[in-house]
Amino acid sequence: MDRVIDKVIIVTGAASGLGLADANVLAREGAKVIMTDIDPEAGQAHADAIGAHFITQDVSEEASWAQVMDEVEKSFGRLDGLVNNAGIAPIATIESTTTEVWRRVLGIHLDATFWGCQSAIALMKKTGGGSIVNMSSTAALIGLGPYLAYSAAKGGIRSMTKSIAIHCRQEGLGIRCNSVHPGSISTPMVHKALKSLTGTDLMAEEDPEKTRLALGIGEPEDVANMVLYLLSDESKHVTGAEMVVDNGDTVI
Ligand SMILES: NC(=O)c1ccc[n+]([C@@H]2O[C@H](COP(=O)([O-])OP(=O)(O)OC[C@H]3O[C@@H](n4cnc5c(N)ncnc54)[C@H](O)[C@@H]3O)[C@@H](O)[C@H]2O)c1
Repeated sequence: MDRVIDKVIIVTGAASGLGLADANVLAREGAKVIMTDIDPEAGQAHADAIGAHFITQDVSEEASWAQVMDEVEKSFGRLDGLVNNAGIAPIATIESTTTEVWRRVLGIHLDATFWGCQSAIALMKKTGGGSIVNMSSTAALIGLGPYLAYSAAKGGIRSMTKSIAIHCRQEGLGIRCNSVHPGSISTPMVHKALKSLTGTDLMAEEDPEKTRLALGIGEPEDVANMVLYLLSDESKHVTGAEMVVDNGDTVI
């Protein structure tokens, strides 16, 4: 308990899946959580359930970042953590990806992570530091054939994270920046993808532990526990790191 007590932490894409699990775990451990999402109905309901603050945000809109940071500064007076988590994963290969899909995926993942980090650092600097977690994927490490733009965006997030970490260390900002690389985790995004690729919902009837071991699919809390560690002071010597949460999929 209390591993992030009183830390003010923003989680984007927090109305579902991994972002929601992050928000739940961080609130349980004492953080003042600000959940943002493009879906205000689900986002507000989940925020109310855990006593978090909700802000409607489309992370791919640059102006939204100044609005979110202004509201956080006015309401909480500081920012200690940011989880750049919001994302989409349309299935499209190098041959089928349209320019529209390419731009949309890079906008939500890459542009948003850039604006999120830039605006968070400006606010964190005022109170002596903080921790940023950028949600990447094992797609950044191995590339996924059916996910061309997604793999490119997650690879960009991986190296952007290291560039930010080095800058913050060299400038003595007291801000750490790390990326998290989940394998397949049981969320609406993955259920949808599996259904579309295989024609059946492979996860529908499985209990989570059976699913994890048989299909190699983890639970949102497996990732949320890593995010919690990176936002807590327990990880004070960890920056620029890529934390893989995939049950060893990428080393087999
Ligand atoms: N589930 C996995 O297996 C897995 C693996 C690796 C990486 N990831 C990454 O984790 C993150 C969360 O994925 P998830 O599986 O929880 O997906 P999800 O679809 O369950 O949740 C994504 C959330 O992001 C929100 N969102 C989408 N576009 C947005 C926008 N423009 N602005 C603000 N919010 C927006 C959605 O409304 C939703 O609440 C994504 O970045 C994803 O790429 C997931």
